[in-house]
Amino acid sequence: LITRAFRSQFVIPDFQDFIKDVEEMYWAAKSNSDGKVASYIPQLAKASSENWGVSICTIDGQRFSIGDVTVPFTLQSCSKPLTYAMALETLGPDVVHKYVGTEPSGRNFNELVLDYNMKPHNPMINAGAILVCSLLKTLDRPEMTLAEKFDYVMSFFSRLAGNEGLGFNNAVFLSEREAADRNYALGFYMREHKCYPEKTNFRECMDFYFQCCSMEANCDIMSIMAATLANGGICPITDEKVLRPDSVRNVLSLMHSCGMYDYSGQFAFKVGLPAKSGVSGAMLIVVPNVMGICTWSPPLDPLGNSCRGLQFCDDMINRFNFHKY
Ligand code: DON
Repeated sequence: LITRAFRSQFVIPDFQDFIKDVEEMYWAAKSNSDGKVASYIPQLAKASSENWGVSICTIDGQRFSIGDVTVPFTLQSCSKPLTYAMALETLGPDVVHKYVGTEPSGRNFNELVLDYNMKPHNPMINAGAILVCSLLKTLDRPEMTLAEKFDYVMSFFSRLAGNEGLGFNNAVFLSEREAADRNYALGFYMREHKCYPEKTNFRECMDFYFQCCSMEANCDIMSIMAATLANGGICPITDEKVLRPDSVRNVLSLMHSCGMYDYSGQFAFKVGLPAKSGVSGAMLIVVPNVMGICTWSPPLDPLGNSCRGLQFCDDMINRFNFHKY
């Protein structure tokens, strides 16, 4: 009786029923063979299109995972909301948004374009994320070496994930840096327009961006990060207050409007949840005040989103009332 009374206080009281739906949605998406694994970074092309995992962590720490949930993948663009969150937390929104906007670009994630103020449109696309990396590198504890900064950022990400350790994939990092003509072009274009804070070390800042993309985690770990965002910045596993509520609000707002590449508007319309995808096939999905979800499956649609991940979201929104409106 006490257990039942306790259970009914959970944010998803009938968690076992919910899991049955999640399992059905998982198996339905598993048979979807659409999409192509990203190949523009040679090391990413090696991922198996069979991989498919879903992990869920509620804001009160109930967890469920199914499929390839412990196989590591690189964060890629899923690092963008995390570096942005860290910059908001350490530098504050006024400083961050002196350098980067809050508007969807309406273009590809790596498009060579700045907004009408000659700033990157938002922190969820490459230009904006490179800029956020320069802010973290140059303005937040500038005395740190690149090595110290890497550790500092890794441990911040790890706190978002309930102190789960993250990995780093050096082969992806090297491959990524080798295949980075467009990112360098973006970086130089921003330097031409004096987008960076003074004293930015351009090469270090580009390396730092590639390193953030090459950090490794898995579905289980990423679902805790998403749950921390769902829970106003308090990690449901450790109860640590990692982010201020205003930082979380800013991160979720921009994930909502800009997180899914040039599909963001359609995703916001259809699914109505803040999410961020990356070219490794990962998707972070936040159901505010309920739970964090991470899906991972490498085959991507032409806009760069994981085909199985999108199917899972569509299915979930048809079954449950999570759409914000
Ligand atoms: O900068 C790149 O090309 C990749 N490392 C990250 C790309 C990614 O996941 C797409 N981002 N919005």
